[in-house]
Amino acid sequence: MTIEVRPLGADAWHQAFTMMELSFGETWPQDAADVERARFEPDRSIGAFVGDTLAGHAAIYSFTMTVPGPRSLDVAGVSLVGVLPTHRRRGVLTALMRHQLHDLHESGREPVAVLTASEPAIYGRYGYGCATQWVYAEVNRAKRAMRPVPGSDEVTVRYADPEKSLDVCAGVRDAIVPTRPGYVRHNEPWRRGEIADPESERGGASALRCVLAERDGEVTGFAYYRSKANWEPGGPNGTTIVQRVHATDTASYAALWRFLTDQDLMSKTTHRRLSLDDPLLSWLRDPRAAMVTVRDGMWARLVDVRRALSERRYTTPLDVVLEVRDDLCPWNAGRWHLAGDGSGASCGRVDREPDLVLDVADLGAAYFGRPVLAALGAAGLVEERTPGSLAATSRAFTSEVLPLLDTPF
Ligand SMILES: CC(C)(COP(=O)(O)OP(=O)(O)OC[C@H]1O[C@@H](n2cnc3c(N)ncnc32)[C@H](O)[C@@H]1OP(=O)(O)O)[C@@H](O)C(=O)NCCC(=O)NCCS
Repeated sequence: MTIEVRPLGADAWHQAFTMMELSFGETWPQDAADVERARFEPDRSIGAFVGDTLAGHAAIYSFTMTVPGPRSLDVAGVSLVGVLPTHRRRGVLTALMRHQLHDLHESGREPVAVLTASEPAIYGRYGYGCATQWVYAEVNRAKRAMRPVPGSDEVTVRYADPEKSLDVCAGVRDAIVPTRPGYVRHNEPWRRGEIADPESERGGASALRCVLAERDGEVTGFAYYRSKANWEPGGPNGTTIVQRVHATDTASYAALWRFLTDQDLMSKTTHRRLSLDDPLLSWLRDPRAAMVTVRDGMWARLVDVRRALSERRYTTPLDVVLEVRDDLCPWNAGRWHLAGDGSGASCGRVDREPDLVLDVADLGAAYFGRPVLAALGAAGLVEERTPGSLAATSRAFTSEVLPLLDTPF
């Protein structure tokens, strides 16, 4: 079977849309598709053709994301990936992935690609590693008691119209983006997408609510949430479903969570994309008040090892030779001398014996600061040739706050 991968051109959205419906086995409601369309970048969409048939599709969103430093890095957000059920397991996805990575390298655009996986078993073979995790937390209202947070009583919470408060919420969001690796700077279509609130995606819950946290008349935070009522014979058993909570200071963040976890008629509050080091989990007096489930979040792929490793900063001083295995992107394979600290980094080819030998996917897993290298070494997946280099490299790659992708795509 001959597969030709090429840009989709003018009609890209319509073709991508049809492909998504068929490959995901869904009918995409118009209101949700409209939100997606506003973010779609037609010139970054590629199709895999078998004869005249569009057999597969992949797209890229142009993101700017926080990496350890903190620094802002342009990353390619790979999305809308699908292959026609009639053409599966014949290499169509592989052709798309290869084309996309080679094209990114040749164009010199983003040195890192990221994605979220429908099924996590798919992307490791293409050099993606699990770079962030998502914590699904369900807080039991009856056990919600929190430790006191200084200053939180001075914060008031009030309702606001999501549309009218878009700019003020965007200001809070922009202020917090550098505070955690993996946070994406939202441009206009992504800001609007946050409050688009398509009815088809509410799953029986209320319309989106927006509350602002204020101190001395200044907005210091906001939250977007929905409520889902549930009238049971034993009493009301509703859920507060939190979509996003941000604040520029700890007290305001605490005040927002206190509000969100204490709603009459709602016996629990859920959030799908928290970090394991979120302050909420430290404030709860009863750690079991929040039942948490941890799963893979963002997957990262170093498209260009040299540029990627020199763009981020390192928690402790590092001087190491890495031997990288990368069959799909041979320009990354081989030995790299990486030297860096909190203020700068350089990475270049070297002809010296390596201290560590590892797959490019494992570098991707560690890139945003997740503390995984030592664990991968303990698991026998990263080979330490120079004693002590694994612990030193793992420490230097690990950021002080856990990385988190909190913008699903
Ligand atoms: C996932 C999907 C894109 C794979 O496309 P495909 O063209 O069949 O993939 P390929 O033929 O190129 O497969 C490449 C390899 O991945 C494996 N693979 C493909 N889909 C897989 C899956 N869902 N789970 C585990 N492995 C998978 C194949 O077995 C093959 O392995 P091999 O290299 O060891 O032989 C396609 O099945 C699909 O459209 N699924 C539904 C939509 C979806 O989940 N999209 C991904 C969004 S993140």
